[in-house]
Amino acid sequence: MTDRTIPTVRLGREGPEVGIQGLGCMGMSFAYGPSDAEESRATLERALEQGVTLYDTADAYGAGENERFLAPFFKAHRDEVTVATKFALSIPPDDPTRRVIRNDPPYIRQAVEDSLKRLGIDVIDLYYMHRRDPEVPIEETVGVMAELVREGKVKHLGLSEVTAAELRAAHAVHPIAAVQSEWSLFSRDIERQVVPAAAGLGVALVAYSPLGRGFLTGSFASADDLTAGDFRRQHPRFTGENAAANAALLDRIREVAGRHGASLGQIALAWVHHRQTLHGLPVVPIPGTRRPGRVDENTAAARIALTEEDLAALEPIAARVAGDRYADMTFTSAGRE
Ligand SMILES: NC(=O)c1ccc[n+]([C@@H]2O[C@H](COP(=O)([O-])OP(=O)(O)OC[C@H]3O[C@@H](n4cnc5c(N)ncnc54)[C@H](OP(=O)(O)O)[C@@H]3O)[C@@H](O)[C@H]2O)c1
Repeated sequence: MTDRTIPTVRLGREGPEVGIQGLGCMGMSFAYGPSDAEESRATLERALEQGVTLYDTADAYGAGENERFLAPFFKAHRDEVTVATKFALSIPPDDPTRRVIRNDPPYIRQAVEDSLKRLGIDVIDLYYMHRRDPEVPIEETVGVMAELVREGKVKHLGLSEVTAAELRAAHAVHPIAAVQSEWSLFSRDIERQVVPAAAGLGVALVAYSPLGRGFLTGSFASADDLTAGDFRRQHPRFTGENAAANAALLDRIREVAGRHGASLGQIALAWVHHRQTLHGLPVVPIPGTRRPGRVDENTAAARIALTEEDLAALEPIAARVAGDRYADMTFTSAGRE
């Protein structure tokens, strides 16, 4: 490890060892406006140089497009990267704009084959259930995921947006390496039940949208600043009065950033990294970016040590955020517990 590479951490008691910050690859193909493929490829390479080894995708990101886009990068660096993908958001053939949650065994068996093919690999390092369908017992879903491990198609299991009770039930069937949930200065609901449960079981927390989908960097102040087709234009926190109220909350982050000579985004990420010490579990934020320079900026945040004064200044933010983190909160763990 050189000075410039980030430290590593193990996901779960038996999971893979990964750089303490991962890379969210979703925006390279989906959701956040137009991307430049060349720049995205350079971003992937830069991340690897910085010690980022956990690369996060899902079959639903661009209806398989994101997995296909990442395949050449994974092929070139197979032994250096931890490939994480997800299943559960199925696309009905008659309406490609909709997503239907599927957790049933036949669906999972087909989804894993499709992801392996698109990714061009023999085994998925970390396979997540992306969303929970409460109609299917979690034991049944994790049961078939465990079969995939025994069959050598998957190495480790993860669950996204599960409740503490769902995590415990799943972990009793097969060890879960990581729970992936939204965790940031703006979204702290998982600290109530999910985080303590994960810490107790030795399960890691992979924090998605740690930059509040970019809002915490100050790079946009409302949905009006975003291009047409950007999913965030419909986000409850970025529209109307909520956006203005939430933008005002960034002043506290600005104050802390000033003390450290850091950017707002770096303070937001440093805060997520600090959760590891505070809550006693491995925490790996996966900021999403498509720009190499931002990888440098984001990974440097893993080296910022926030003081008690900083943490006290940042503490009140989440409780004051206007708007939910999803338009439909039943999609999240908080909506079910
Ligand atoms: N499990 C789930 O349900 C779930 C849900 C959402 C996301 N995810 C995963 O989590 C990853 C990260 O979440 P996210 O992408 O939603 O949100 P995020 O990481 O909080 O923010 C991403 C946004 O921030 C911008 N950004 C990144 N670094 C920046 C910097 N240093 N300065 C200014 N802007 C910066 C990015 O723009 P540029 O790309 O233009 O740099 C992008 O628009 C995704 O890629 C995906 O893999 C999982």
